[in-house]
Amino acid sequence: MGNNAFRSKISEDYTLKKGHVGWRCPSNLAIIKYWGKHGQQLPQNPSISLTLSNAFTETIVNFELMDYESEEPSIEFYFDSKPNESFQLRIQSFLSTLNDYFPYLSKYHLSIESQNSFPHSSGIASSASSMAALALCLCSIEDQLSDEVMENKFFLNKASFISRLGSGSACRSLYPDMAIWGFDKNIEAIIHNTPSDQYAIPYTQFHQVFKNYHDDILIVSNQEKGVSSTQGHRLMEDHPFAKARYDQARHKIILLLNCLESGDLWGFGKIAEEEALTLHGLMMCSDPAYMLIEPLTIELIKKIRNFRQRSNLPLFFSLDAGPNIHLLYPDEISDKVNDFVNNDLRSHCLNGLIINDKMGQGPEKIESFSI
Ligand code: PMV
Repeated sequence: MGNNAFRSKISEDYTLKKGHVGWRCPSNLAIIKYWGKHGQQLPQNPSISLTLSNAFTETIVNFELMDYESEEPSIEFYFDSKPNESFQLRIQSFLSTLNDYFPYLSKYHLSIESQNSFPHSSGIASSASSMAALALCLCSIEDQLSDEVMENKFFLNKASFISRLGSGSACRSLYPDMAIWGFDKNIEAIIHNTPSDQYAIPYTQFHQVFKNYHDDILIVSNQEKGVSSTQGHRLMEDHPFAKARYDQARHKIILLLNCLESGDLWGFGKIAEEEALTLHGLMMCSDPAYMLIEPLTIELIKKIRNFRQRSNLPLFFSLDAGPNIHLLYPDEISDKVNDFVNNDLRSHCLNGLIINDKMGQGPEKIESFSI
């Protein structure tokens, strides 16, 4: 399905006066990373992610028919129940690009309320969960305005497509457990489903040892990133290792899918760590070069690797575009890992903060109403 498939086909003769919709949507952690894009937020390589469960955004959108047609979307935005002008401007400019997909945006005023489950200053990027929650709300409004019921698969694909336009990685937050984003014929042959650059699709063929797989986030710093992901993706355009990196990601995702299918926790963890370090390695040798990890990130990585060697337990780490560590391990070793985390790692984290998360069930509708 290309962009055209998601253009709105509903009649613009709107009869609903007002209503509201709401979604809770989790964040996700990429194991094979998306780093480098082209065109309109299209990925240079396929990626695969774990859908989290405790790190989520809740968004409620109240919509009300206006008695005039507005050229720009008419919105107000509240974050944690307070008006937030900078978020409002960002969302307004994003919505102004979506008219083909949601023509109702020129006829309805939207009042958007959003909050995150994780502390604002925890250093966790919320763009994936917040963009995906907003996209789900926009699709739910379209669904309410339409006479025809949108098929669930199409609904999620459209929400994923819209989230992608807001923040690339957000498109993978729409499904339970795991998601794949980016076309690749070798992946298609393995999963017997067709991945797309336009939106993510669910991945379900993993071995049961990965069910409830954990991702505890060790907070190293809560500082704003010095270099944004948008700038980071841009630096990949002239990066000396860009082509090698995209080829490597295509190769590694196939190896990873084999590990997922066969239940190879060690192979999976090895690739997860290589990907995390590759992402930061690419940052460190871009022009200009930059670094998002901190000395404490490296200290914690050494402790994790040391524990793994001593215990022979499959505990691994990943990193997002920041200094915080994602601790990855299967449910069956969670007691032993908890002891290690509480005795050896927690005191090093910022204010002892660790967000205990695991693979979850994807987005959940929280409310919906109209008259
Ligand atoms: O979605 P963006 O543009 O914020 O890019 C995020 C990229 C990484 O989080 C570093 C990797 C990924 O695939 O999520």
